[in-house]
Amino acid sequence: MSILDKHKILETNATLLLIFSFLVVTIGGLVQIAPLFYLENTIEKVEGMRPYTPLEMAGREVYIREGCYVCHSQMIRPMRDEVERYGHYSLAAESMYDRPFQWGSKRTGPDLARVGGRYSDEWHADHLRDPQAVVPESVMPKYGFLEEKKIDGRYIGDLLATNAMLGTPYTDEMIEAAQADFRAQADPDSDYDGLLERYGEDINVRNFDGKSGISEADALIAYLQMLGTLVDFSTFTPDASR
Ligand code: HEC
Repeated sequence: MSILDKHKILETNATLLLIFSFLVVTIGGLVQIAPLFYLENTIEKVEGMRPYTPLEMAGREVYIREGCYVCHSQMIRPMRDEVERYGHYSLAAESMYDRPFQWGSKRTGPDLARVGGRYSDEWHADHLRDPQAVVPESVMPKYGFLEEKKIDGRYIGDLLATNAMLGTPYTDEMIEAAQADFRAQADPDSDYDGLLERYGEDINVRNFDGKSGISEADALIAYLQMLGTLVDFSTFTPDASR
């Protein structure tokens, strides 16, 4: 009996065909899906990625609370028009510490995955306060109230601890120092050596909103200014073995 004849038995018997199809899909599915459950296999390790600093983390919370993701995506697709406009396409590793991820599904405004360093802090402060003053045709709402709302980072250690529980590599020391690091990053006159030691030399330490005290705008701008800046794409080469 040739292989085609054997196949004919399958193709002319609906029940048998169903059972074999099911088997094939099950095995194929397992082979494809099971490895994805092991994060180490799924996400290519990329140099430069680090967990968010406490101030950036607070800014991310504001971003989520205000629903910025409703109008902004944070995922550059590997298509020419996107890469030319926004920069290198997004890597999985770039959102490995995002819980929840902020890829978004709607672009009323531009993608923000690489907005960090593209504008000055003053630009961001002015733009958040009154987008139409900067970009007259903008439909973005005004977020001036963020710079009035002062925050003290009282709970930021708890947020870091929760993320640590979920697998983000925050150490006990980082959690312990969270509130101090939170304050230090928004105050260039403070002693921020510990912050740099814990998170890296190139952390932005500035008075982001230009006003005294730490506001939600400080946190949000600190977050926006680091987006997409961690991986050095002048030296990055995709791992071809995958
Ligand atoms: C109703 C939709 C909408 C919402 C909500 C919204 N934006 Fe926007 N955003 C826009 C539009 C449209 C633009 C483009 C025009 C402009 O620059 O204002 C924009 C532009 C921007 C830019 C400049 C991006 C660039 O590359 O030029 C930033 C940064 C930004 N938004 C941040 C935010 C943040 C942070 C929030 C939440 C606090 C937010 N947006 C909420 C619509 C929105």
